[in-house]
Amino acid sequence: MPNHDNSPIFPDSYVGDNSSEYDNSIWMERNQKKSTLVCLQYLYDEKLNALGKDDILNEKNYLIVDLGCGTGFSSEIIVENGHRVIGIEILKDMISKAKFKKDFLKRGRELELILADINHLPIRLASIDHMISVSAYNFITYGKKLPGDISKTTNNTASYLKEILKPNGRVVIEFYPKDEKELNSFISSFKDNGFDGFMVKKDFNQKSGQTFLLLKKQRKL
Ligand SMILES: C[S@@+](CC[C@H](N)C(=O)[O-])C[C@H]1O[C@@H](n2cnc3c(N)ncnc32)[C@H](O)[C@@H]1O
Repeated sequence: MPNHDNSPIFPDSYVGDNSSEYDNSIWMERNQKKSTLVCLQYLYDEKLNALGKDDILNEKNYLIVDLGCGTGFSSEIIVENGHRVIGIEILKDMISKAKFKKDFLKRGRELELILADINHLPIRLASIDHMISVSAYNFITYGKKLPGDISKTTNNTASYLKEILKPNGRVVIEFYPKDEKELNSFISSFKDNGFDGFMVKKDFNQKSGQTFLLLKKQRKL
């Protein structure tokens, strides 16, 4: 069931019949896959290459974590593009559908699916090449009302993401911040915890709506 502005409500929009409706929606599949392809392009972005430590990504077979993988639309596209993927999803109703579909994927063996919380990832330090998150990252503060709790969560998570990335690891997040305050709190959590990066929007003055964060782990001095 969406909010009055049509944005999804977590977790209601993704449990029970709503999870089936999500998975069966051709519109949703098309949108998630389209946004994921944009994220994959941004992973290799030239401006990101030039930021901080100048480095160029040119490989096509990275180990990529898909944060909040839902029923697997994004993971499927990342695997199809030649990468290995670890999909992280907090809801059983969603990940069970991704697990079912995995067996039918051409490169399904390259996809591992883990029921876990983005805020508490069961992943070894310095083991992941890059991360992508499509329409999921804004949910990490779900249930938190106090500004102090929200910033603690966003900071802890950004800091841990940095730890599990290999040197030169990149993160591309597509998400829908509800307002400027929320957007700024996500941006500062990355800037304050060892990432360089920038934001891409269709219209730079737009404060909510579809937003991409292109991030790169800072090199150690
Ligand atoms: C729009 S949906 C999935 C989008 C996904 N890109 C896809 O292709 O289906 C967002 C997902 O994020 C998941 N999610 C929300 N908070 C999470 C968290 N803290 N840890 C892991 N997954 C989370 C939700 O359960 C939901 O399945």
